[in-house]
Amino acid sequence: MQRFAFLYILLGLVWLIAAMIFGIWLGVAEQFDYAESHAHMALVGFASSVLFGLIHHAFPGLARSSLAMWQLVVYQVGAVILIAGKIIVDGGGAPTVVKVGSVVVLLGAFLMLVLFVARGRDVESAARAY
Ligand code: HEM
Repeated sequence: MQRFAFLYILLGLVWLIAAMIFGIWLGVAEQFDYAESHAHMALVGFASSVLFGLIHHAFPGLARSSLAMWQLVVYQVGAVILIAGKIIVDGGGAPTVVKVGSVVVLLGAFLMLVLFVARGRDVESAARAY
């Protein structure tokens, strides 16, 4: 089942567009204090999501676990909270939101590790992929 590969790559590309628009804005407006927020959109949002999608594509057995949907939701919600919090911090605000987001996005990444260890060696899924 390629549902998670498609969803992750779709979300990653949405993050890429958001990161680029944000990058153009911060460059044009000379708001370089926000460069790290832009970098987190591009790397936690775009690059990591697309890599997770490619992992799902290479190991379709991961999608058989009910953990797969939870992992996607926790990671993406965590990324949104983390990046919103980073924008607040870059604008001179309090770090409370970014602290929450960092824990949630870490949990999302940890769930991908758990999913991969639990299902990555699924013989049938490997046979289907190659
Ligand atoms: C339309 C596309 C993009 C535009 C207009 C753009 C614009 C910018 C600007 C203006 C900066 C700040 C440079 C400075 O502080 O002197 C920056 C930094 C950065 N960008 Fe982009 N960017 C784009 C795409 C990307 C992509 C696709 C990635 C990664 C996948 C990326 C990763 C980074 C990183 C890691 C930094 C350094 C952040 C830092 O210094 O803390 N950017 N970008």
